[in-house]
Amino acid sequence: MNTATSTAYNYRVVRQFAIMTVIWGIVGMGLGVFIAAQLAWPDLNFGLPWTSFGRLRPLHTNAVIFAFGGCALFACSYYSVQRTCQTRLFAGKLAGFTFWGWQLVILLAAITLPLGLTSSKEYAELEWPIDILITIVWVSYAIVFFGTVMKRTTKHIYVGNWFFGAFIITVALLHLVNNLELPVTLTKSYSLYSGATDAMVQWWYGHNAVGFFLTAGFLGMMYYFVPKQAGRPIYSYRLSIVHFWALITVYIWAGPHHLHYTALPDWAQSLGMAMSLILLAPSWGGMINGMMTLSGAWHKLRSDPILRFLVVSLAFYGMSTFEGPMMAIKTVNALSHYTDWTIGHVHAGALGWVAMVSIGALYHLIPQIFGRQQMHSVGLINAHFWLATIGTVLYIASMWVNGIAQGLMWRAVNEDGTLTYSFVEALEASHPGMVVRVIGGAIFFTGMLLMAYNTWRTVQAAKPAEMQAAAQMA
Ligand code: HEM
Ligand code: HEM
Repeated sequence: MNTATSTAYNYRVVRQFAIMTVIWGIVGMGLGVFIAAQLAWPDLNFGLPWTSFGRLRPLHTNAVIFAFGGCALFACSYYSVQRTCQTRLFAGKLAGFTFWGWQLVILLAAITLPLGLTSSKEYAELEWPIDILITIVWVSYAIVFFGTVMKRTTKHIYVGNWFFGAFIITVALLHLVNNLELPVTLTKSYSLYSGATDAMVQWWYGHNAVGFFLTAGFLGMMYYFVPKQAGRPIYSYRLSIVHFWALITVYIWAGPHHLHYTALPDWAQSLGMAMSLILLAPSWGGMINGMMTLSGAWHKLRSDPILRFLVVSLAFYGMSTFEGPMMAIKTVNALSHYTDWTIGHVHAGALGWVAMVSIGALYHLIPQIFGRQQMHSVGLINAHFWLATIGTVLYIASMWVNGIAQGLMWRAVNEDGTLTYSFVEALEASHPGMVVRVIGGAIFFTGMLLMAYNTWRTVQAAKPAEMQAAAQMA
């Protein structure tokens, strides 16, 4: 490596992941709008297996979580770990491999899921050869990330890196344990677990995929980009350490709240419920730490739409981590489970928190890595902010109304003990909400199109010399 590169950050891989985040965001959310429309107008299934809701739904979840969310996490962790460790990324070629390997995983998912090839475990649907590829890419990611932390020139390890580190290690563990399976052909395998054990392992995985993929990783992002964008140090470094240890200690126990009133032993369900309630404290500790970072800089919200994205994402994080513990209470879950309320909760976290914090972080990061002062148009960022906020609110409000209506209608009984409503009646009552969700989703999606245009214009204006200069370490 020559001196020029050893004193420069590796922004190439960050640029690759950042661009793909925008592209996968459009694909994944476009699919979301389409499957939302299928639920409102079932004719859109076209009577074909490949385009049926059952096959496109996992394509949506994989595309938004692993393609959009995953690329955002790779981009932001590679960017912030270099800057907070004041060193170039470790093993540049391996980092390049993580990019191409991850895109291959996504491509294989996009081919196999519509074909109906699935291990049928939610969020872990991909078949065993792809699981092995994921493992190889993930181990490479860990080597690049921790290698960079180890060769840091700063004394301490910034808290954002603790969150990214916990996310990388835990996701590796979750993936390996939940995907232990017996291959029977190249495209079919069976889980090593059975019955209630299988369900428990699956939801230990599923919940911690939420806790570590959709939360810890994005908190790592929050701890870097909120102080940067606000131009203030994090409100309390001590609180961030307590936040970290409390969050990772408690999250791992909460999985059984997905299995209330099932064959899982009752004590395990109650443990999951208790741990979920406790989880409110560290979650809100983190949210407050992020929000309070703005003390003295609140006025910036008036003129800075990027900061608005980041702050509103924290508000949605706070909201969904209040709602989650409530839904984990068994009596509340008896009403919410199987209804659209769960879907509303998911998207309060997914759109409000995960997508908004990623979008805010990317708007901060893209000009930096392309050597520009700012994005092509701040006005378009502002428009995107409003579209994203209105879209999210329409989505979750319609699902709350639907969810509670469904729960109440399903359990309503007449004096003689017969059901007051048939299932179809509850479905009919849900139709307006489903249409509102399509509208909300389409509004959110339109915002992503603005982002793509804004990014394209910013990238187009980039000059190689400026990009090189921007990557030089201070
Ligand atoms: C335009 C934006 C989006 C729209 C319109 C949309 C729409 C949908 C729809 C219609 C479903 C199926 C609901 C059902 O089965 O009843 C769904 C499921 C899901 N979506 Fe989205 N989505 C969007 C964005 C996202 C994003 C950004 C994420 C994650 C970062 C996400 C994560 C999920 C998850 C995890 C599920 C499964 C929920 C469960 O099984 O409980 N979605 N989405
Ligand atoms: C303190 C934090 C949280 C707790 C205690 C919690 C609790 C819950 C509960 C009780 C359910 C319903 C389970 C069921 O009835 O099947 C659920 C579903 C879900 N939550 Fe959360 N939640 C939290 C935060 C979040 C966040 C921040 C996100 C997203 C970023 C999220 C994503 C999901 C997803 C994807 C599901 C649906 C899983 C499925 O059935 O496919 N949760 N959560």
